[in-house]
Amino acid sequence: MFWLKTKIIEGEGSLRRLSKEARGYERVLILSSRSMKRHGFLKEAEDYVRGVGAEVFSIAGLPAEPSVEVIEEFLPKVKDFEPDLLIALGGGSVIDTTKALKVFYDAPELNFEEIAFIDRFSKPKPVPKLRTKLIAIPSTSGAGSEVSGASVLKKGDVKYNIVTPEIAPDVAILDPRLPRTMPAEVARNSGLDVLVHGIEAYTTKVANPFSDAMAIKAIKTVYKWLPLSVKGDDEARARVHYAATMAGIAFLNARLGLCHAMSHKAAWIGPHGLLNAIFLPYVMEFNMERSDYARKRYAEIARELGFSTAKDLVEVVRELNGMLGVPELGELVDDETFVSRVEEMAEKAYRDGLVAFNPVEPKQEEIRELYLRAYRGE
Ligand SMILES: NC(=O)c1ccc[n+]([C@@H]2O[C@H](COP(=O)([O-])OP(=O)(O)OC[C@H]3O[C@@H](n4cnc5c(N)ncnc54)[C@H](OP(=O)(O)O)[C@@H]3O)[C@@H](O)[C@H]2O)c1
Ligand SMILES: [Fe+2]
Repeated sequence: MFWLKTKIIEGEGSLRRLSKEARGYERVLILSSRSMKRHGFLKEAEDYVRGVGAEVFSIAGLPAEPSVEVIEEFLPKVKDFEPDLLIALGGGSVIDTTKALKVFYDAPELNFEEIAFIDRFSKPKPVPKLRTKLIAIPSTSGAGSEVSGASVLKKGDVKYNIVTPEIAPDVAILDPRLPRTMPAEVARNSGLDVLVHGIEAYTTKVANPFSDAMAIKAIKTVYKWLPLSVKGDDEARARVHYAATMAGIAFLNARLGLCHAMSHKAAWIGPHGLLNAIFLPYVMEFNMERSDYARKRYAEIARELGFSTAKDLVEVVRELNGMLGVPELGELVDDETFVSRVEEMAEKAYRDGLVAFNPVEPKQEEIRELYLRAYRGE
């Protein structure tokens, strides 16, 4: 099965389509991060919505890499305003926050622990039908949250997913003017997440020809355009922006794998896309050494990029990381702290639901070894 719930609106200036999408709604809540206010996009969005007669309330300071506490902090504001339309204007962090707020606004009887995928050996409670419409307007080119059914939240130091079609946005507006204001580092980190989404989605056990098409196009686009996008090239920013959503459509269907399981459990160390980029080559080597399927699939991607083998693809990923200045893990966290937490991370990653989609099912010790190899840069 291949599915996509979200209506996608794309193009320069497409933010203006908010006027059409918000028509008929009375109370519109716009959630955004600081940069969207700073660069004038929040004001522009408010104007389009007010222009069609809705009452607008905006929250402009949502943080990056959200936690359950952030949801608890902002939920009362959502409940007080009683919106009939939610608009998330920002990166994956803002969109994920808005999705979780939608869950607990529409279904206040639920709590995070019972609906989140904490452990793949126990099933979370299903999320009931939710009513409030959600429009996602990504300002980074990365997470794919504008089409995915996932909201990723930190609880303590690690990340867990809420996954349900109920939180997949109803509409995504992809206006390339927004990601053009990203600092180079945000463009790099979020763009590398797109590459990881593409490569992991292409190699899961549930990939299908339709998710493959989205994954391959996203991978090729990032490979060709991300270095230019990081430098601030306008066309490159637009291309990577659309690729991010394509990769989102790929993993919405084909899911993700061990690399994301590992980065979610190491979330205390740094930004999501950066951690994924660091772990990816190690996970790929692990998978291709143990699975003919993984080796074949990596080789297919390599050929799409003009190379030939799975090993070539690992090299390509390492070179891209090097070219974009991705640091070693040892530059982000000291040896003692990392080693003291590696067993706990390995256990939690082993229990992460995404491991079930990875082409190889790893043992907990193997995940620990992968974390350590990534740390030592071997
Ligand atoms: N739901 C899913 O399916 C899914 C998939 C993968 C990852 N994720 C999650 O998504 C999050 C990462 O999202 P992300 O990579 O999109 O980055 P992000 O965390 O949303 O944004 C990173 C930073 O970039 C700044 N920023 C964003 N857009 C900008 C713009 N246009 N101009 C200037 N600054 C801008 C923001 O700063 P300001 O605060 O100053 O605005 C923000 O602090 C992680 O929490 C990850 O776990 C979710
Ligand atoms: Fe990701």
